[in-house]
Amino acid sequence: MLQIHQNVDGEFLPNHPPQNLIVATTGASGSIFLRHLLLAVESDERVQTVNFIASDSALRVMAEELGLKGRSNLVGQILGTASKKSSSRSSAKIQIQSNADIGANVASGSYLADAMVVIPCSVGTLARIANGVASHLIERAADVSLKEKRPLVLCVRETPLNKIHIRNMYRAADAGATIFPLIPAFYYRPASLDELAREFACRVLAHLGLPQAHAFHWKP
Ligand SMILES: Cc1cc2nc3c(=O)[nH]c(=O)nc-3n(C[C@H](O)[C@H](O)[C@H](O)COP(=O)(O)O)c2cc1C
Repeated sequence: MLQIHQNVDGEFLPNHPPQNLIVATTGASGSIFLRHLLLAVESDERVQTVNFIASDSALRVMAEELGLKGRSNLVGQILGTASKKSSSRSSAKIQIQSNADIGANVASGSYLADAMVVIPCSVGTLARIANGVASHLIERAADVSLKEKRPLVLCVRETPLNKIHIRNMYRAADAGATIFPLIPAFYYRPASLDELAREFACRVLAHLGLPQAHAFHWKP
């Protein structure tokens, strides 16, 4: 079976565990999952660089779900550190890239990102990735991940799914992406939404080769 540190052709990727991640977020529901993924990579010493991209629609949804106000200190707002005086810079490793800047580092295959996650991934962004419509940085970076045969994880969220969504998930998976739907598990009996989202983020990171020490492991 193919391991995550191998690409779809079975070739080994240079950095395992991955050190340089692209994390993108789009206008689907589930901003709390993004928050916990960013909190985890922020404190994970194996991860050195995170290029973070948010679509305009993601901002709209994060305003509803996390109470965010605009793009000012966006990472600090998502991590929940924005009001702490000690954090004049919210994160040393998480660098924001504009979704409008198709000239950003991650738009080129020559920039050596190790893996990309889109969390949550709207069906609109899924459609653009699955069909090679790379007009914004998120889709361009995903397109680059696929052409360079680097891991691309799409945490798609919509319900119910129509045939277009299902076809696009198939197309993206067929091109090498991992469809990792925002469907949390319940068998560890999460006591809160934060616990539920934290465990889901752990599952995504473990899939990328970044297992988290405190993650739940099923013991029958
Ligand atoms: C509060 C809210 C929740 C939404 N939830 C979803 C969702 O779960 N899945 C989805 O695909 N779109 C959802 N949308 C619609 C997307 O935001 C919309 O289709 C947008 O154009 C996606 O743009 P993007 O893919 O560039 O981020 C939601 C919109 C709002 C305002």
